[in-house]
Amino acid sequence: MRNTDLQTLIDGLASAALFPPGEAADAAAHVFTALKSPGPANAPPPPSNMPVLRYLEPAFEDASAGPGIVPVIATAVAALAPALPWYRRADAARPEFENGHANAQIIGPNGLEVRDDVVIGVSLMAPGIQYPDHQHPPAEVYVVMSDGEWRQEDGPWHRPGRGGLVFNPPNIVHAMRAGDTPLLAIWCLAPVPSPD
Ligand SMILES: [Fe+2]
Repeated sequence: MRNTDLQTLIDGLASAALFPPGEAADAAAHVFTALKSPGPANAPPPPSNMPVLRYLEPAFEDASAGPGIVPVIATAVAALAPALPWYRRADAARPEFENGHANAQIIGPNGLEVRDDVVIGVSLMAPGIQYPDHQHPPAEVYVVMSDGEWRQEDGPWHRPGRGGLVFNPPNIVHAMRAGDTPLLAIWCLAPVPSPD
């Protein structure tokens, strides 16, 4: 049995992450099929005192006025947030970024539900902060919970809006940035199973 908030979050994300048939839909299906079987629960870490987390409350408030399933997802993440293992990427060259963002695995090797087949996490960014270009082998689905902009490679910035989706194919370079309000997004990583 899963924690109710966690199950509500998974169900909400599954109903939000609807892509037309193709690579993105396959990645989402991989994640949500795997999550039909719960993994073991991890003990929550001590509460984080990162100052950037003060933006959580306004971000949840904004998302709770969003369309469709967004308020349900926001309420579930808000309930889980105090117990999440928040961390930030060290970036000595960009202290405003280092101090202006927080990530947490909700499900994954370090999440509240421990598993290594898929990862679901959350990112929070203070107004005006840009998450630098990065890339990773797993395909990634973002469910966007706030205003904010996304970019792939050298493409144009675009604004998916609350409830919008972003699909990052494996290893594509991507970035996101907050505008005048905090950026909140849920991400789902779908590692390709190793052929063994
Ligand atoms: Fe990413």
